[in-house]
Amino acid sequence: MLIGDGVLAATGTAWKQQRRLLQSQFTGTGMRRYEQRIVGAARTTAGRWNGYARTGQTVDVAREMRRFALDAIWRSLTGHPLDDGTEHELAAVAAVAAALPTLPAGATDAEGAVAADLARIDAVARHAVGAARDGAAGPDGPGLLHVLVEAAAERPEYTDRLIRDELVTLLVAGHETTASTLTWLYLLLDRHPAAREQALAAGAEGSAQRRQAIQALVHETLRLYPSAWILPRHATEDDTLAGYAVEAGTDILTCPYLTHRDPGLWPDPERFAPRRFLAPDGRPAHPGAYFPFGIGARACLGLQFALRETTILLEHLLPAHIPAFSSVPTKAAYGITVRPDGPTPATLEAPGA
Ligand code: HEM
Repeated sequence: MLIGDGVLAATGTAWKQQRRLLQSQFTGTGMRRYEQRIVGAARTTAGRWNGYARTGQTVDVAREMRRFALDAIWRSLTGHPLDDGTEHELAAVAAVAAALPTLPAGATDAEGAVAADLARIDAVARHAVGAARDGAAGPDGPGLLHVLVEAAAERPEYTDRLIRDELVTLLVAGHETTASTLTWLYLLLDRHPAAREQALAAGAEGSAQRRQAIQALVHETLRLYPSAWILPRHATEDDTLAGYAVEAGTDILTCPYLTHRDPGLWPDPERFAPRRFLAPDGRPAHPGAYFPFGIGARACLGLQFALRETTILLEHLLPAHIPAFSSVPTKAAYGITVRPDGPTPATLEAPGA
């Protein structure tokens, strides 16, 4: 309903081909093309935070992280910074995603319940695809949407509908996940302020040491709060899994949230200790012990993008601002992603103030 036949939902040969096209964009040189756009989004957020700090205005950190993540992916898709009008309309993506677990059974009733939001999403997508088709590159040059439109010239399967589905898939897969990770990270730093200081002290601004230490903060956050906390699979044939017989047709839920907190794998698992990801033997060697980005053929296509955008934003914000929360959510909401259950209001203080 929301992502149609986009790569996240596609199967078989169609999925393989769609994945191959997107993969070229999200690795190596493809990814480097989007790096400057992520920096642009980080600078915009940093500028906004400087303004909030000057006026003492209260901000919702979760909303700020969503704005940043949406801006980063929108710039990469279209070549344009996110404007207020588009941001307003794209709130419909989060509204549909949040409503999904509670929608009535039956496709027609479910679609009816969110029809207005789906229409808003379709209108934004139509406009963006139309602009890409007219060859109108944004100020940052052509975006991923232009790649999809160009593919359509040679590959008839890339209909307007499929291009819309890929666009919405990347918006869904690529913004709430990153935003909730960054929000959890700020809530964890609120309880563990020394971790921020240690990351900044690891090296000078722009150094590889500082970048690695900041990335360790992100990984440790993703260990405790892997935004995609449950990953469903469907057994297509009889199998045996860890000694259990699994019949064809069985649904299996893997849960990185539990695996990442298994004391048999992670010493003192509830403790926030980013250094685990810096020491050579700080984390279990088993590849299945840590899988916030999934594992195997369907693993996250945006892994590099997510790690770059979170690190780049934190390189901009951590040295200059510390959110002083006036209240913090005490529980997590387990929906499609695991999010802090409540608002995250804060004023921004200068370090050492
Ligand atoms: C911290 C941020 C992120 C997390 C934790 C995350 C996590 C995941 C996970 C666990 C999967 C696999 C789902 C499964 O196996 O069922 C996945 C798939 C995917 N992710 Fe991410 N993701 C993040 C950011 C992103 C970003 C930024 C993008 C795009 C720019 C993206 C695009 C995708 C796509 C397209 C897939 C589907 C791959 C396929 O089915 O072949 N993700 N993600």
